[in-house]
Amino acid sequence: MAQSAKLVVGDKTYELPIVTGTEAEPALDISKLRAQSGMITLDEGYGNTGSCESKVTFIDGEQGILRYRGIPIEEMAEKSSFLESAYMLIWGELPSEKELTRFRDQINEHSMLHESMKMHFDGFPPTAHPMAILSSMINALSCFYPHLDELQEGRDFEEAVVRLMGQTRAIAAYSYKASVGEPFVYPRPDMRYAANLLHMMFTRPYRDYVPPTEIAEALDLIFLLHADHEQNCSTSTVRMVGSSRANLFASVAAGVCALWGPLHGGANQEVLRMLQEIKDSGISVKNIVAKAKQKDSGFRLFGFGHRVYKNFDPRAKIIKSACDRVLAKIGAVDPLLDIAKELEEAALHDEYFIERKLYPNVDFYSGIIMRAIGIPINMFTVMFAIGRMPGWIANWKEVREGNSRINRPRQIYQGPTLRTYESAREKGGLSTVTSR
Ligand code: SDX
Repeated sequence: MAQSAKLVVGDKTYELPIVTGTEAEPALDISKLRAQSGMITLDEGYGNTGSCESKVTFIDGEQGILRYRGIPIEEMAEKSSFLESAYMLIWGELPSEKELTRFRDQINEHSMLHESMKMHFDGFPPTAHPMAILSSMINALSCFYPHLDELQEGRDFEEAVVRLMGQTRAIAAYSYKASVGEPFVYPRPDMRYAANLLHMMFTRPYRDYVPPTEIAEALDLIFLLHADHEQNCSTSTVRMVGSSRANLFASVAAGVCALWGPLHGGANQEVLRMLQEIKDSGISVKNIVAKAKQKDSGFRLFGFGHRVYKNFDPRAKIIKSACDRVLAKIGAVDPLLDIAKELEEAALHDEYFIERKLYPNVDFYSGIIMRAIGIPINMFTVMFAIGRMPGWIANWKEVREGNSRINRPRQIYQGPTLRTYESAREKGGLSTVTSR
């Protein structure tokens, strides 16, 4: 690969260094472009713009490749667990058995919310969306642990991580309990991460809920597959906020807000709504696909398409095969799964989707599994957030350790040129009388 590129503008030529990643991805380094040429680049939606160099996750969208710290997602899904993957994403290497046990115990040890935090739940209406609760409560954590604001010591970072992972799980479980008017439940020290969440959600004062192994493993797999995904919208948001030296809780709370959108993590609940609508309305899959192709319909096939994957999302493949396995194991039959498969088949053979390289993404099948294991639909994106927590933390750590500059993109201004206040008022047909 050449070491630099030449940009010719008029009679001037500018040399731009080429940065090459460990997977041979080339990038033009334009960090000196404005100083040299007075010009900036413009890339609406950042489809062609690298915001950082990172060592956490690698994606090759054309090949449908996803690797956590170099290990293929297929191997991680088969051999690892959510907490082991989380540890590796955050600290760079797989933990020893002793390190993993300590990590799990520390998370359980720091899962309790401060009693004053629990009172906040009374302030939300029972109909509050759990993503609104999650983002506000995670941000509120910084009020209770001010010593973790600056993270002066390495041990402070570890404490912030285990509190965040433990208390995010508690906030999620409590937001569900608050919505159904049931008492909060604490985690059990003998239970693993995903099983404990289900225990905290579905245990009642008169009946302890211990999730069947296959159900706990299915949720653990969902969390593992969502754990990181390079510079997606929410992770970029966490890096953006972290670049101002905002604390970890505030940065991750911003990530939760970005994830909530239906074009991003909110798609998993929209997929279920779409499948349910097809089932209830009797509208044919053919007509749904046709509607998704009509620009003016404003409707999109949720769970389809991806900014980076122009091939199958490897996570969708893994979740699809897990769907059949989990439903068979728990003896559940879900007609929505059949509709999803019919929809996928129709779209994959339709010129519009083929031409645009639109394939099922991670959200297309994940909701089917979550529904099968009893997660309410409005908690689907919360599950995504719990899974993505290690990726957000790992990226925030890179920003903090890298001492990177504050993220501050530029723009091309397209508004009114210089004018006076009076001329603006006249243009707006307003009188020039000013009264303060
Ligand atoms: C996630 O970035 C990540 O890594 C995200 C994620 C992660 O792990 O963090 O993978 C998780 O967010 C997955 C995506 C979940 N969202 C959805 O399923 C919502 C439906 N998908 C689309 O809205 C869309 O595909 C996006 C948002 C995912 C990607 O949007 P892009 O890259 O901006 O694509 P685009 O809007 O430029 O679409 C290109 C063309 C357009 O048609 P034309 O203008 O060329 O005629 O494809 C069309 C779009 O209209 N298109 C779709 C479509 N997705 C794109 N048409 C119908 N249905 C769709 N789903």
